[in-house]
Amino acid sequence: MCGIVGYIGKQQAAPILLDGLAKLEYRGYDSAGVCVYGENGFEVAKVKGRLAGLNEMIDGGAAMRGSLGIGHTRWATHGAPSQRNSHPHISTNGKISVVHNGIIENYLILKEYLLAHGKSFVSDTDTEVAANLLEYYYELEGDLLAAARRAVEKLAGSYALGILCADCPNTLLAVKKDSPLIVGFGHEENFIASDVPAILRYTREVVYLNDGDMVLFRDGEAEFYNKLGEEVEKIPEHISWEMSAAEKGGFPHFMLKEIFEQPKALRATISDRVKGGRVDLGDVHLSPEYLRGIRRIYIVACGSAYYVGCVGKYILEKTCRIPVEPILASEFRYSEPVLGDDTLVIIISQSGETADTLAALREANELGAHTLAIVNVVGSAISKAAHDVIYTWAGPEIAVATTKAYSTQLSVLYLLALYIGDLLGTLSVEEYEAMLHALNKLPDLLADMLTEDYLAHIKQLAAELKDNHDVFFIGRNLDSATCLEGSLKLKEIAYVHSEAYAAGELKHGPISLIEDKTLVVAVAGVPELFEKTMSNVKEVKARGAEVLGLTTADLEDEIKKTVDRYLLVPKTHPLLQPSLNVVPLQIFSYYMALARGCDVDKPRNLAKSVTVE
Ligand code: F6R
Repeated sequence: MCGIVGYIGKQQAAPILLDGLAKLEYRGYDSAGVCVYGENGFEVAKVKGRLAGLNEMIDGGAAMRGSLGIGHTRWATHGAPSQRNSHPHISTNGKISVVHNGIIENYLILKEYLLAHGKSFVSDTDTEVAANLLEYYYELEGDLLAAARRAVEKLAGSYALGILCADCPNTLLAVKKDSPLIVGFGHEENFIASDVPAILRYTREVVYLNDGDMVLFRDGEAEFYNKLGEEVEKIPEHISWEMSAAEKGGFPHFMLKEIFEQPKALRATISDRVKGGRVDLGDVHLSPEYLRGIRRIYIVACGSAYYVGCVGKYILEKTCRIPVEPILASEFRYSEPVLGDDTLVIIISQSGETADTLAALREANELGAHTLAIVNVVGSAISKAAHDVIYTWAGPEIAVATTKAYSTQLSVLYLLALYIGDLLGTLSVEEYEAMLHALNKLPDLLADMLTEDYLAHIKQLAAELKDNHDVFFIGRNLDSATCLEGSLKLKEIAYVHSEAYAAGELKHGPISLIEDKTLVVAVAGVPELFEKTMSNVKEVKARGAEVLGLTTADLEDEIKKTVDRYLLVPKTHPLLQPSLNVVPLQIFSYYMALARGCDVDKPRNLAKSVTVE
């Protein structure tokens, strides 16, 4: 949440900062601001609302001269979105300018202290406390680095801070703890940013900072310090992916582009891990001896990643015969989970920085469980903290609503199910081969679905159904887990109230909400439960519901006997069917959002990575 960027070099900073912020807007878009160190010291511009407003205000950056600066795009935590609460924040005596991503948890105590020591505040933010604390120590120490060291000793919480000092025209300082921060090295210029796309146009040589690290750029040199204050050397890593991966590439929205990227992302995630007809997870530490001792698997995640875990429960239990409990990270961490070295904890996260998921992972590590993270962002906090990591090779996911990350996370659970089922001997040779064969074919099957006609059909359905205010998604077994994701998609981007229910559960309460024309989306992709789900469809139809059914192509004649409208997906291995079933639901939400005039890629109140509890 919140994106920060900083530049120090020979070019004009403001256009580079704006360009970087445009790539980080997915992290928050309540307000935006920049501070450039020019001839007359700090110059600050900030606006409430989207970055486009800031762009206009400073004429694409041309209105601010100076080759040192910091910028910010905000997802409000402390204080409403407003110009006053926008970053950068300037300290009382104008010495320090700060952009911040994270939360200073003890900001009220610090604020009281600083107020008593002559500092004043104009915003409601925790960030302004950091600016004033830095100034307070700078006035005592007379040195920016020393001041920052003393300030961070006092800060509790998470932060990536970009810091300028009015007395230091050639200096940019940055520090991080529990919020992401990278450093980029260009030719006679350096960068800081929350994420790689912000600086990829200028450099591919980056360093991922560790918690407690500081970087000081001064007079063209970069100095790195670790959390103990020792100067350390950092070797840059080369970013090999292309900028086009983080651009729309001709699609009207990132979400649609990412839906279309799913076959490629699945191929990338699966193919390297299947060698000679077997799943090979490289150096993951899951030996047969260890696996034989496992009594339980937790799958810990938030949002859609948690819903992947809900599908995963059915898959892993069926293939590995180990009890699997998907649990929300925000609940896991405060539930005194019963675990130890006989528990495998699978952590799922696209961003690798979700605050609750990261905290749950640390808790699981402390309690002695083996932790395995399924992560998309390389070098992220979660990928570093887990004992094992399996990357999803989805590429950068920019749309706030996840699609390709969800699909690739699910594919990793299939790989794991095969791997563990094989090692434990709980999968027969035939079952193993059938599932692996289907997994290899999955990207092509998915690609075949994404035809113009298929999309046009779903668009038409969305046009007909766009005015429904309440939607129920129902399904059984694996389908009930898919419904959770379908329902979330509709809520988050189309702002339609919807609920996902196990189909058999509806009559235990929520059926009282079914009225004339209430939309029910019935997912019926588990062949042996098809008739049961159709019975539930009949129950809601008897109460006036309009039903959109979803099933496999072979059951078309069957489903049309019962539902009002239907969507079909190709048939695959029963355990892999959710991977295909979710796709029309993604597309349906996309077109519902468009039909309802919503901002598909940047839905209200949301941000791509949730780094607050
Ligand atoms: C929904 C969505 C979110 C994320 C959740 C976890 O479309 O994207 O629900 O799945 O915020 O984020 P990560 O996977 O980054 O931990």
